[in-house]
Amino acid sequence: MIRLKNQAMAIILATQDKKELEVLWLKYLGKKGELTSLIKEIPKLDQIKRKEIGMLANDVKRAIEETIDSQKLKAEDQRLKTKEFLDVTMPGKQPPLGHLHLISQAIEEITRIFERIGFKKVTYPEVEWDWYAFTGLNMPQNHPARDEWETFFVENLSHPKYGQTVLTPHTSSGQLREMERVGRPPIKMLNIAKCYRRQSDISHAPMFYQFEGLVIDQGINITNLKGTLDYFAKEYFGRERKTRIRPFHFQFTEPSFEVDVTCLVCAGKGCRACKQGWMELGGAGMVHSVVLKNGGIDPKKFTGFAFGWGVERVLMMKYGIPDIRLLFSGNLRFLNQF
Ligand code: DAH
Repeated sequence: MIRLKNQAMAIILATQDKKELEVLWLKYLGKKGELTSLIKEIPKLDQIKRKEIGMLANDVKRAIEETIDSQKLKAEDQRLKTKEFLDVTMPGKQPPLGHLHLISQAIEEITRIFERIGFKKVTYPEVEWDWYAFTGLNMPQNHPARDEWETFFVENLSHPKYGQTVLTPHTSSGQLREMERVGRPPIKMLNIAKCYRRQSDISHAPMFYQFEGLVIDQGINITNLKGTLDYFAKEYFGRERKTRIRPFHFQFTEPSFEVDVTCLVCAGKGCRACKQGWMELGGAGMVHSVVLKNGGIDPKKFTGFAFGWGVERVLMMKYGIPDIRLLFSGNLRFLNQF
């Protein structure tokens, strides 16, 4: 029995492996274990021996059990000390903080600029009837001007009065909706929305954002338009910026203009990035009387101006971003700069 004890202790002390320790426990103390077998023999002994060997057996059993347990504890200690040791005083790992996408930031900034002078931000449907996107804006069916808006059509969905369904190709579709909503001027709308066109290159994406201003009241004239454009250019691009308006043609405005801002690179002197010191911002004009009528507003009493520009376009101009596709790439090395 003593020999068994010594042999067992030597083997147990040589390992800290949990599985091996389980096997050793079975080897000695299991149902068919070596010590168990010896203990089973005890009743066969005479009374005096039985007592003596019985006590010894208990001792050996306890010694084997305790050694196995302490080896297991040592193993656990070792495990904690090495790889899985948890130091509760260590500072936690900060999850990386994100921020609004560059386009969302620009939308917020543009909204704030116009809200300061009383524009009300609205949102209108991205999936729109032909009437609001074209016909109601003085662009009848088959009018060649429509080619400019390379439109996505939604199949098999047309309205007897409002015509085909389109993915709205510009925020101007909000003009008639706003006139219908407000009913009677004054109107001071800022409509910022997703627009869709079948184009994709360094300055066009099939989905992009526009912001559209519409002001209608008594006595609104071109100087109000020019003042608003100047205000926006100075607030958004910087105090030194100036704007100019050039004659242009749109079906829904008369007269129509294209708006330029002094070049951000050369400050108006003329360089490779601009056209003789000017950069094109987008379209604007005085709301066409047909459009006012279509919106239920009397063009003899009220006049208005409108403008519609690309959010990405002004953003790219402001930061000198060369390719619109960068904005939609999800590339964090680019986006984290802003
Ligand atoms: N809707 C035009 C476009 O997408 C831009 C535009 C031009 C909007 C003149 C206007 C405007 O409100 O008056 O190209």
